Formats: sequence, C-alpha cells, structure tokens
Amino acid sequence: RQAFCLAVDGPAASGKSTTTRLVAQRLGLTYIDTGGLYRAATLLAQRQHLLPKKGDAAPQELLLSSLEKATFTLRTSPSQDQGSLPVTRIYIDGEDVSHALRTPEITAHVSRLAQIPEVRQVMLYKQRTMASPSYEETTATGTNGVAMDGRDIGTTVFPNAHLKIFLSADARTRSLRRQAEWGESGSPEDLEKIYQDIVERDRQDMTRPVSPLRKADDAVEVDTSTATLIQVVDRIVQEG
Ligand code: C5P
Repeated sequence: RQAFCLAVDGPAASGKSTTTRLVAQRLGLTYIDTGGLYRAATLLAQRQHLLPKKGDAAPQELLLSSLEKATFTLRTSPSQDQGSLPVTRIYIDGEDVSHALRTPEITAHVSRLAQIPEVRQVMLYKQRTMASPSYEETTATGTNGVAMDGRDIGTTVFPNAHLKIFLSADARTRSLRRQAEWGESGSPEDLEKIYQDIVERDRQDMTRPVSPLRKADDAVEVDTSTATLIQVVDRIVQEG
C-alpha cells in the first residue's frame, strides 16, 4: 500500500505547523516541518559563519557541502491530553536545537537562505528522504505516511500528494496570532514590528524565482481567519 502524503502550504504564521501536527496525530502520519528545516539550515550556516550576505551572487561551496553533510532529524511527541499540543523537536547531528530556531535573528535570515536554488536542491533531497519508510522507522511517530508543511510542498516537493491544503489568513490576523504565540508584551509597536516582518517574509517567499510560495492548482484553500484551530483540523481530516 502506498503511504499517504499530505501537503500543507501557506504564508508565515498561517497556523500551518500547529494544524498539521494535529492532523498528523489524528491520521497517524509522521509530521515534517520544512520551515523548521530551513531554520535549522540557517542556524548551521550562522554557526559556521557561512550565512550569505545581501547581494552574494553564488553560494559558497563550503555552505552547500556542510548542509549536505548535516543530518537533520525531527521528533514529534503526541499531545498528552486534549488540552495540549504535540511537540516537535529538531536536531542537527543529534543535537536538539529547537530552542534556537524561532529567534528574531534566524527569522530575519531564513528567507534569504531559502532563496538560493542550490540550497533548496539540498533541502529538497532531504525532505523527500524524510518521507521514506526508513526515516519513519527511525523516528517512529506515524506509520500511515507523512504530513509535511511549508511553502512549496504541494507545488515542488510532493506534486503528487494525495491531499494538498493551502492555509490562508489576512496578515493582520496572522500578526495577532504570532504575537499571542510568542507572548509578546502586546504594545502596538511590537504588533507593528511583527506585522512588518510577516509582510516582508511573505514578499520574499512569494517573489523568489525558484519554488515561490503559491497555492498549487489542485490544493484546497482553507481560510483560517474566522475558524478555530479545531474547526480547521476537522475540515482537513474530513478531506483526507
Ligand atoms: O514556516 P516558517 O516560518 O518556519 O518558515 C521559515 C522560512 O523558511 C520561510 O519564511 C521560507 O523562507 C522558508 N521556507 C521555504 N520553503 C518551505 C518552508 C519554509 O522556503 N517549504
């Protein structure tokens, strides 16, 4: 039997990762957070002083070979009860780096790294490998297949996915959610900064020449602006 493949794409802070983790748990799928993988790649580049600078024409060979060599692993532990969410941890060569991936610094650099075609090629290979049964065995989360979220899963990574979802919500709504999630102070400046960051990251992700963020033609668009998390999860599970 062919393993099930769910592809979830959408802009920054559209609720992809929480939604996809819950759907994966309900359907017994292994969850893969590709935004987290691009963030881990950015952290690795930063640690090795290989982050590309604005206007760098070609990626350094050193950066590409160090990304190729690194082993990225994700482990998701199921939620303990109805009120809690599944937690995903990300490892580089066995080191848990989860706490270092959501920082403003990584967030500010990740989209530039993700624009580089050669970097995407390396990450594409790793993402496809993670959807193979052998990876499933090492992480032993879901055994029915894979649920992957990101920007180009339905268009590029798995164009033949069984189900493609495109999550959308207006940028103001997404900023408010991100602010709540990050436990920011709630001052208007903070919210404005989050909003500007989200708009800028979406712009970079949508306008890059290779694998830009866009809805696949056969994806089901789900607007999450007025729906609760559980409503969105139920809707996707019904489609699946
Ligand atoms: O989803 P998250 O906000 O963690 O993604 C971080 C960044 O990684 C995105 O803004 C985008 O630049 C990049 N990304 C990508 N392709 C994916 C997933 C993420 O380019 N499939």
